[in-house]
Amino acid sequence: MSGRMVVAGAVTSADGRLLLAQRRYPPEVAGLWELPGGKVEEGEDPAQALRRELREELDVDVEVGTRLERSVELAHDLTLVALWARIVGGEPRAVEHSRLRWVTVDELDEMAASGAIVPADTVWLPELSLRISGG
Ligand code: C5P
Repeated sequence: MSGRMVVAGAVTSADGRLLLAQRRYPPEVAGLWELPGGKVEEGEDPAQALRRELREELDVDVEVGTRLERSVELAHDLTLVALWARIVGGEPRAVEHSRLRWVTVDELDEMAASGAIVPADTVWLPELSLRISGG
């Protein structure tokens, strides 16, 4: 792991769905779907950063769980990690994204197969599928 960390939230619902958010920018990934999140700021740990980012981006309070196993070395010396999370306050709305969607494991698989998921986030597909299908 090197440089700065970017933390994404694998936000799950009680009925076995995963929250995906559609990016508006930059052009390379605009229109693709991601696990919402953002950069960890100085003095924050990843869980604090994720709670802040999801408050800003989705207008919700989340409880953060463990880390997903995979991480990704992005360009610009950024390391992308993901944390499990669940909403404990508010209804998510797309403040910074164009849309939000709660997807089932089948929908997630279809979106991945059609290239609709942000490339970096595809490393988590096996872990996400296992968890939201009740594993
Ligand atoms: O969201 P933001 O632009 O702050 O993300 C910083 C970097 O992390 C960008 O390069 C973005 O594409 C990447 N990212 C990602 N997958 C996510 C969240 C961010 O690849 N789920």
